[in-house]
Amino acid sequence: MTSYKELGLVNTKDLFKKAISGGYAIPAYNFNNMEQMQAIIQACVETKSPVILQVSSGARKYANQNILRNMARGAVEYANELGYNIPIALHLDHGDSFEICKDCIESGFSSVMIDGSHLSFEENIALTKKVCDFAHAQKDYITVEGELGVLAGVEDDVSAEHSHYTEPSEVIEFVGKTKVDSLAISIGTSHGRTKFKPEQCTRDANGILIPPPLRFDILEEIEKQIPGFPIVLHGSSSVPVEYVQIIEKFGGKLSDSVGIPEEQLRKAAKSAVCKINIDSDGRLAMTAMIRKVLAEKPDEFDPRKYFAPARDELKKLYAHKNQNVLGSAGQA
Ligand code: G3H
Ligand code: 13P
Ligand code: ZN
Repeated sequence: MTSYKELGLVNTKDLFKKAISGGYAIPAYNFNNMEQMQAIIQACVETKSPVILQVSSGARKYANQNILRNMARGAVEYANELGYNIPIALHLDHGDSFEICKDCIESGFSSVMIDGSHLSFEENIALTKKVCDFAHAQKDYITVEGELGVLAGVEDDVSAEHSHYTEPSEVIEFVGKTKVDSLAISIGTSHGRTKFKPEQCTRDANGILIPPPLRFDILEEIEKQIPGFPIVLHGSSSVPVEYVQIIEKFGGKLSDSVGIPEEQLRKAAKSAVCKINIDSDGRLAMTAMIRKVLAEKPDEFDPRKYFAPARDELKKLYAHKNQNVLGSAGQA
């Protein structure tokens, strides 16, 4: 058993408390490799932002969990080396079983998500409570995120064609019975780069898809039921048109891409939403730069020559998110 404290990490308890009272959200950025980790840390040190490093089941399979938790330890040391000691949490994204959560907790994760959103309400409560009982009984309290409501899109082993919004009348019972530390809700976000079908959107004069607004009415109703309780938004990439255009210019095909407008995320971050998950935007930034470099320099074959600009772009994107979207800049 490795405690997250030995790795220099923090759990999310204090991060969320400060984020709610300060009217901002903590960035939760997914990472699978060294370049993503470096870009996240560079951006968060530069903007003095706390950060949650997220590991999905897919990342565990791709990169190996042991390597990833040691990269998180390296991230803490890297931040210090860059000159500013930001709080860093290591979080399991979309854990789908008690065993995965236990495994991560025992290997040094400071926070886990148990995603029982596809189960019945009662089964979701039972599974989430089991994870909370185990996580909270550890010497160094591990924080647990649960989910109520279903996001559309594909995430690892869980996929749903149709979303359904979180039912505000269920949240008090869920939070009370499970003792979960934060709650992911469904108010119109979804995973991936096509968050809405074109027929759900309107188009602006340039033909760019404009999505329907998030259901802030549901968020407000949830906040009334559990005032001050930490709320999490998944599926919060904005799918920047500039990246989609670069990718398409250099041979990619990403038709019907549409994300969540940044102003809506800024509004959400000012409420009890205190963790905002972003992965797809980072994928788009890196892919855009890699495609550009390889198209413009067809004789290039040193991976460092295309990973470095991809990493720089990712850093720029995350610094922008912290400063202008989540409001977490200056909060570390
Ligand atoms: O919620 C899903 C995250 O974007 C992780 O994606 O399962 O492909 O690693 P992944
Ligand atoms: P995006 O696909 O919108 O980046 O969402 C990521 C996410 O929710 C990770 O859990
Ligand atoms: Zn998610």
